[in-house]
Amino acid sequence: MVKQRTVPFFNYPHIFTSQEDGMISVIRDVGRRGAFIMQKDLSEFEGKLAEYVGVKHAIGTADGTMALLMSLMASGIGPGDEVIVPSHTFVASVAAIHHAGAMPVLADCGPDHLIDADLVEALVTSRTRAIMPVQLNGRTADMDTLLSIAERHNLVIVEDSCQALGSKFKGRCAGTFGISGAFSFFPSKTLGCFGDGGALVTNDNDVAAQVRLLRDHGRSPDGKVVCFGFNARLDNLHAAILNFKLKTYDQEIARRRELAAMYHSQLKDVSELMLPPPPNVDLVHYDIFQNYEIEAERRDELRSYLNKQGVGTILQWGGYTVHQFEKLCFDVVLPCTERMTRRFMLLPMNTALADEDVDYVCKKIIEFYIS
Ligand SMILES: Cc1ncc(COP(=O)(O)O)c(C=O)c1O
Repeated sequence: MVKQRTVPFFNYPHIFTSQEDGMISVIRDVGRRGAFIMQKDLSEFEGKLAEYVGVKHAIGTADGTMALLMSLMASGIGPGDEVIVPSHTFVASVAAIHHAGAMPVLADCGPDHLIDADLVEALVTSRTRAIMPVQLNGRTADMDTLLSIAERHNLVIVEDSCQALGSKFKGRCAGTFGISGAFSFFPSKTLGCFGDGGALVTNDNDVAAQVRLLRDHGRSPDGKVVCFGFNARLDNLHAAILNFKLKTYDQEIARRRELAAMYHSQLKDVSELMLPPPPNVDLVHYDIFQNYEIEAERRDELRSYLNKQGVGTILQWGGYTVHQFEKLCFDVVLPCTERMTRRFMLLPMNTALADEDVDYVCKKIIEFYIS
């Protein structure tokens, strides 16, 4: 009997095994120096990250969620303020707004699954202080429209670019459009470390100084506590691993874009599917394909068919967007998001995939719709 191919949704060991020797030397070097908290690997990584996205400051944080929370706090957003954020996001974006003491106002998404910028202005009230676009799946939202709304209403933009390191809009990197941007280095992210990790980027000297205090218990460099902060530093070992991986990061993106192009060319004629925009056809967006999120008719049947054929797929956020979690008590109707959540799913997208894996996934999808 011919062995069935398996294409898991994600391959966690590959993060380590694909560059095992390099990783081991990084770990050995950090361990032998006993360099665990706030050491040179962290400042080196912060410098390289700032240069990579093109900003003045990058500050390593415990994770992307804390980067978002501290971004909001350092921008002066708190009780009495409203922040507009899409419902199709990880709950962390909305939780950060909640924990800052502000009120999240959930927005609908457009056909590319990102915040529908044309609907945002209608949500602005006298209490609105900020917009938090979520640069989802490695694509950057329509920043021209969002920036002009922000300018008209004197709002700040705090970007959730946790899924979008290296993604660009008109040549400018995600994370650099607003007062600050947050990144996540969760292991399955395009640039992932060996646990939780994050960073905040900004051109604003005051925000940078405030976040440096907040992430380290409110301590200034002379050790004096000047405000109440958090223990929210990026571990030095993670920073060293990220430094190492950043060297080949552009290759990671190139491969993801290649895989996305393969999916697109093989699936574009399947009328039951809606695919993300392919790379290289749109001069405005440079997408990094953190995820390959499609919409599919008979989605649940397709997923179980693929599962039987050895192909792993997942639904972001377990299949619910934020306003659909009843216990969070959002009383809002978002028609595009709701239609999308009945149809969305993620196909495997990571650099452990061989070309033949993508061929196999596409073949099985086509087989499902013609049978
Ligand atoms: C869109 C989005 N926002 C925020 C986060 C939070 O990042 P972290 O898990 O590093 O706290 C994530 C991570 O999954 C994310 O995908």
